[in-house]
Amino acid sequence: MLTAADNELLTRTGADTAMGGLFRRFWVPVLLSQELPEPDCPPVRVKVLGEELVAFRDTQGRVGLLDQRCPHRGANLFFGRNEQGGLRCVFHGWKFNVDGRCLDMPNVEPGPNRDRLCARMQVAAYPVREWGDFVWAYMGPREQMPELPMMEFGLLPPAHRFVSKKFQDCNWAQVCEGALDTAHFSFLHMTVDDAQKEAQATRQRMVKGYESQSMSDDRLRWLRDDGAPRYSVLSHEAGLALGGARKADDGALYWRIAQFLMPSHCYAPGTARGENYHGQTVVPIDDTSCWVYCYTWNPERPLADAERAKFRSGAVIHAEVDRNWVPVRNRGNDYMIDRVEQKHRSFTGVTGISEQDACIQDSQGRIADRTRERLVASDVGVVRFRQLMLQSVRQLADANTLPAGTDPHAYFVRSGSCVAPSGMPLEQVMAERFGDPAGRVTRPESEKRTATN
Ligand code: FES
Ligand SMILES: [Fe+2]
Repeated sequence: MLTAADNELLTRTGADTAMGGLFRRFWVPVLLSQELPEPDCPPVRVKVLGEELVAFRDTQGRVGLLDQRCPHRGANLFFGRNEQGGLRCVFHGWKFNVDGRCLDMPNVEPGPNRDRLCARMQVAAYPVREWGDFVWAYMGPREQMPELPMMEFGLLPPAHRFVSKKFQDCNWAQVCEGALDTAHFSFLHMTVDDAQKEAQATRQRMVKGYESQSMSDDRLRWLRDDGAPRYSVLSHEAGLALGGARKADDGALYWRIAQFLMPSHCYAPGTARGENYHGQTVVPIDDTSCWVYCYTWNPERPLADAERAKFRSGAVIHAEVDRNWVPVRNRGNDYMIDRVEQKHRSFTGVTGISEQDACIQDSQGRIADRTRERLVASDVGVVRFRQLMLQSVRQLADANTLPAGTDPHAYFVRSGSCVAPSGMPLEQVMAERFGDPAGRVTRPESEKRTATN
């Protein structure tokens, strides 16, 4: 549990908060690139870390992220015209480029006075990069601006990845905690059928036909039979590796290893060698809602069209969403819970892994009250996440440094699962599974050649 003060510190991310200051030291995704599909396309509202912004793609294809408020008299630039290298306010025609510079002030008499005024006029603009099919923004002090985090999905050619996003109706921190609390898989995502055949059909329905070894009969049996995994957590330069070990067959252990990368990237633990990897980045909209940016990647091969179709329909970490990226099964309709299904077939009665996660994370409250929890040993991943975040905000305030996440190259890690003999420490399990004790990627030459930014 946390004190009320620490719960506030962890969850509040507005411009004047300590955690808000921490988030602003990192690049965060603010849009999918596809939301600004072409030069001079309609601008898009962006709300991030409590700030109301507008994004647009200019005539040259560059993306700008501006304060939505026109500096003249406060009209919303979302209603602006995106034309010839800038966004023009439709109230009196002031025009701004992607850097926030004023290009035109047609309601002022032409001449040196207007030129002077125009040269001085600026709307707040944040640095933006497009990378990995996301638009990223940096909202912190310019002199502290880091490089983009070298996450593997972004380094691969586009054909090797699939990205999506989903709206979530609760505070950012409990979404990260849900992703790092890998013990819940033994319950939340389980089927309850006794008849094997029907259990398979239920599972297929739940995961939208997506096959992976992590959903194989053996692995599901190990997950089901051992609901109290033993956790080991390692700190590394970008965050934490969190391993949960369950009893497998013949005295071996089934390890599921997640990664947490500062400030809010969570990699899923189920991937077996050679399979698709999955990750999520949680970006606060405000303190009671967030966007979850989701990515699936395969370093070995391009993703097949059939796989993409499954992700698009809501498989694994991707949700089934409407045109505004709001999940079809959401807080407003109780996630379309089917009580008959819940009684006889699935643990939750909610369809979709992503929707099951969202349902139960949202249900903890708009901002979870961590003062009333009763934590147990299998919650240690959640505890370590909180410790790292709270230590980070305090260290940032005291010494203007961060304990993790400052080296962009330290983000080049993988998460995943494997079976190992019991008694093997997590470092060694990771060295065997990934070729490195922190899960750092050691890529074959063939991949290096195809890597692009
Ligand atoms: S309010 Fe934007 S130009 Fe006047
Ligand atoms: Fe989950």
